Amino acid sequence: DLHSSIETPDKVKADAPVYIGKEEDIKQSQRITASVHDREVVVFYHEGKFYAMDRRCYHAGGPLYLGEIEDINGQPCIICPWHKYKITLATGEGLYQAINPTEPSATPKWRSKGIKQRTHKVTVDNGSVYVTPSDLSISCDSDYYADKYKKTGSSDM
Ligand code: FES
Repeated sequence: DLHSSIETPDKVKADAPVYIGKEEDIKQSQRITASVHDREVVVFYHEGKFYAMDRRCYHAGGPLYLGEIEDINGQPCIICPWHKYKITLATGEGLYQAINPTEPSATPKWRSKGIKQRTHKVTVDNGSVYVTPSDLSISCDSDYYADKYKKTGSSDM
């Protein structure tokens, strides 16, 4: 049972799943923003699957929850509304189109810059959707904006 009656320090419970909303509601709205242990995340429902990631784009903090979802190379991606960066929903990889200057006529290929946006685990239990934050000890580019836009304990430093 995750719901202990004893308040434990943040460090201990920081990786506990957090209730986000009802499965049916999120399926209908297709996206929802939520706070998971003071971290702003967005949950998407796209073609039968749930995805969760940091809500602010790793590039410059753009609002990913306002972006369009597009399929790129068979991978659903969120397109950041600010500068159109493409981020895979499943893994948080930044995609870019590689052009080989020695073959100017060749079709540009999509390549991965690696994991840039932190994704989180979504679980559905009995009609309820939960998000479990990923391992914060492994840093990710989107952490900068996640910290900057943190709901509580904010500081302008
Ligand atoms: Fe997302 Fe620039 S802030 S692409």
